[in-house]
Amino acid sequence: MNIAEGLTLSPQDVIGESIAVLGIKGSGKTNTSAVVIEELAELGIPVTIVDPEGEYYGLKERYEFLIAGRGKSAEIQLEPEQAGALAQFSLQQAVSVILDMSNYDEETGQRLLLSYLESLFEAASELRKPYFLVIEEAHEYMPERSASPLRALLKRLALRGRKRGIGIIIVNQRSSNIAKDILTQAGIMLLHRVAHSADMTIYKDLIPVLTAKEVAEAVRGLSPGQCIYVRGDCVKVVQIRKRHTFHAGATPGLHDTPKLRRIDAKLLRQLQKAMGDPAAASRSAAPGGCGSINVAAEKDEIIRRLKDQVATLTNEIENYRRENVRLKAQQPTTKIEKLVAGREQKAPGIARQRQEEKLGKLLEFLGKGRRLNRIILAHFLQHNSPTTIRQLARKLAVDENNLYKNQPLELVRLGLLQRDDAESVNKRYQLGDIQALFPDLNSKQVCERILSSCLEGI
Ligand SMILES: Nc1ncnc2c1ncn2[C@@H]1O[C@H](COP(=O)(O)OP(=O)(O)OP(=O)(O)O)[C@@H](O)[C@H]1O
Ligand SMILES: [Mg+2]
Repeated sequence: MNIAEGLTLSPQDVIGESIAVLGIKGSGKTNTSAVVIEELAELGIPVTIVDPEGEYYGLKERYEFLIAGRGKSAEIQLEPEQAGALAQFSLQQAVSVILDMSNYDEETGQRLLLSYLESLFEAASELRKPYFLVIEEAHEYMPERSASPLRALLKRLALRGRKRGIGIIIVNQRSSNIAKDILTQAGIMLLHRVAHSADMTIYKDLIPVLTAKEVAEAVRGLSPGQCIYVRGDCVKVVQIRKRHTFHAGATPGLHDTPKLRRIDAKLLRQLQKAMGDPAAASRSAAPGGCGSINVAAEKDEIIRRLKDQVATLTNEIENYRRENVRLKAQQPTTKIEKLVAGREQKAPGIARQRQEEKLGKLLEFLGKGRRLNRIILAHFLQHNSPTTIRQLARKLAVDENNLYKNQPLELVRLGLLQRDDAESVNKRYQLGDIQALFPDLNSKQVCERILSSCLEGI
């Protein structure tokens, strides 16, 4: 694990361990704790961070963390009643969670955390997988002076969590404010600068291998990010590396807004189910609905799908464009080429020959087609005037119903007949534009040839 230069820590050294990160404001505690979390994330060890100030979301720049809490920044809206289910899900599915405590009042926050940690402890008894709990501003939950169910539970976790694979990272400004019986459980300590004499006294107790004077000297010389590393008899001053991910707790400046990873939408739906809220799927459309999954992750999924579609369409457009360019390249471009091509098109021989072929095919087609169509076409070739089906039936002496059922639509499709588009059932038919069909042939001769072909087959 790469935490500080010259400090070798293996996963076995930290799994199930209690780690205390102490020091005054600005001494580098949050950075240090985030560095340890980054290393745990690299090892695939899930973590729950109790984050009272919303300082840890920057971890999502690189790692998949689910932010649970109240308010806009939470990916899942969380109330105390659902905390237990979330804790179990986090442990069983190895999903890291940031509990954003910034929008709960003290009583609700404590209730939520108690329920969360009870479930975590219980589930860990069965699962026994490496897991870490990080508690920022720990004195709020484990004050030195007052007893509470939460404090008792945290003590239990610090004492008995190891066997269950649960390690705990306690982050606090004032070592003297935090329950000593919990602090003394810490197997690893990262002691940043302190100034208050009460805190210095605690440090002296925590580093028994150094004299009081040595401790005071070492502490005074610490700059931000430097700390005294204590593990058993091993004591040394180390410079913790800077975290790789965005530090939201840093003094505001001209930082770039980080690009954060969104938790997988499928996983969110699973969690929603685990939290026993099947109706939440529909409610999730309303942002901020209690118990509802924040729609942002699903929106991301939709955006991703739309982006895919845009990419496909862009590809297709590009293909069309290329095809267009290719076809244009085949067309004559110079004046001479156009002239030649024009002559070619107009060359009576070629055009007429093609239309002759077309007429031949048409006659063949008519010959093989329905006899009724040949009778109708022959009629119009001889008496061309707009005629309804009823009139046509009378003129041709055929059954009107039969003609309605077998209208000469095939002839219309071929352009040999035209049908007006009146709305009524009495649509009128007439001969098509034979001249337009065979512009280079003599249309009178064409009509005669079609007529004789029709009459032949009647
Ligand atoms: N390891 C480090 N290397 C270099 N700079 C650091 C390091 N750790 C912290 N710093 C600097 O110190 C500042 C304060 O760090 P950090 O926010 O971690 O302190 P903190 O002890 O958590 O403060 P607070 O009590 O206000 O939350 C950081 O913004 C950063 O500029
Ligand atoms: Mg901090």
